[in-house]
Amino acid sequence: MFSEHLGRDIYDGIYVGNHSTIPNKDGIRLDIVDALKAIKIPVLRWPGGCFADEYHWMDGIGPKDKRPQTVNTTWGNVTETNSFGTHEFMQLCDLIGSEAYIAGNMGSGTVREMSQWIEYLNSGLESSITKLRKQNGRNEPWRVPFWGVGNESWGCGGNMTPEQYAQLYRRYASFCLNYPGSPLKKIASGPNGNDTHWMDVLLKNIPLNMMWGVSLHYYTLPTGDWGKKGSATDFGETEYFNTMKNALAINDMINDQEAVMDRYDPEKKVALVVDEWGVWTDAEPGTNPAFLYQQNSLRDALVAASTLNIFNNHSDRIKMANLAQTVNVLQSLILTKGPQMVLTPTYFVFDLYKVHQNATLLPVQVSSPDYVSGDQRIPAVNASASVDSAGVIHISLVNLDPSKTVAVRTSFAGRSWNKINGKVLTSGKVNDENSFDNPGKVKLKNFTGFSKEKNDLTVQLPPKSVVVLELKK
Ligand code: AHR
Repeated sequence: MFSEHLGRDIYDGIYVGNHSTIPNKDGIRLDIVDALKAIKIPVLRWPGGCFADEYHWMDGIGPKDKRPQTVNTTWGNVTETNSFGTHEFMQLCDLIGSEAYIAGNMGSGTVREMSQWIEYLNSGLESSITKLRKQNGRNEPWRVPFWGVGNESWGCGGNMTPEQYAQLYRRYASFCLNYPGSPLKKIASGPNGNDTHWMDVLLKNIPLNMMWGVSLHYYTLPTGDWGKKGSATDFGETEYFNTMKNALAINDMINDQEAVMDRYDPEKKVALVVDEWGVWTDAEPGTNPAFLYQQNSLRDALVAASTLNIFNNHSDRIKMANLAQTVNVLQSLILTKGPQMVLTPTYFVFDLYKVHQNATLLPVQVSSPDYVSGDQRIPAVNASASVDSAGVIHISLVNLDPSKTVAVRTSFAGRSWNKINGKVLTSGKVNDENSFDNPGKVKLKNFTGFSKEKNDLTVQLPPKSVVVLELKK
């Protein structure tokens, strides 16, 4: 997942402050903690996004009443109180059981600043920086593994050319040190869209052992037009179809970027890290457009499930992915209004798909009819499968067709199973949402539309649904 100092993701979202009447632990909202913990988020990326390249970490440590007030010039020129900083973020990760992924400031920060942030987080050695950490209440280093060197450095992160970025990356990364017991996984800032030249220059000019991964960002715009992206909930079938077509197009982009990586790194040592992805619509009417607050419908859930299937099927190269963003911004898992909280349809996809974590990919073939709109067509069904350490198989299937049930048949060569159970996420309309007035409209239900013939699995996939099945001996 990804959380940025943007709109109401952190402030008035995850972090309500310790004087809030909303139940919290040191200002971190406990209902959000419980909800995030339940879906086992492996990694949380912070503090941006574009905000990362204007964030100075020293502003966010020490007594809160002494922290400087700054302005979040990236997102709406609002006052940044800096009351949620390094210690608060690391506490959030501890509470929800996630690893931390910090995006360092390369755009407006110095090499020394980035280097000292890592020392503050990861060093167990004696120095004034680690003494400062101890004075601020933390004796042991946190040992943060994932480190981003800049964000969208072709744009908000410094408007660099790939050649400039590659050179600068080498310099910054040289001082992103591995402290004893704290090896860093450094992630370089990837291309703008599907710019394969950017990837080519990076792979050519940065020694492979200087980076753990390269990032990739992909947003699904319902209309495909940044000027008028489309509403989160008020759309017809043509826009629904276009959203799905645009979402599935991430597969082509991944293939193109992987082809470049494969030329320089055939052993796939460097990861592709899709550290921002999701549906980006127009902001909800009546909200601050700079806050990027959008509702979330069954359509978002179908995009999330299909995208996660694509990531699973590319898991030889994609080692991490982070939905943008966690709470109250873009395609969120959770929306809040005062003390109220709703779990979005997207949340339930993450709940369903957590079974694939730490499992081994099982290649799966499902033949799919097309879902047709006018003269355009996309496969109605997509899928991925894995086997966990206990030998349990999980298969996740998505039917994008909003009106037709699709029957699929598949098998897992060399693997036998007898017991099967499943869950489904669907609703009456693709526009259905969980609102503050009706928070339980889109929810998980038990699923029984499957059968076994010899060793073949047959599933009747309801229209506009996500189904995850568990197959056991
Ligand atoms: O997620 C919102 C923004 O989208 C991020 O800050 C930036 O990295 C991307 O352009």
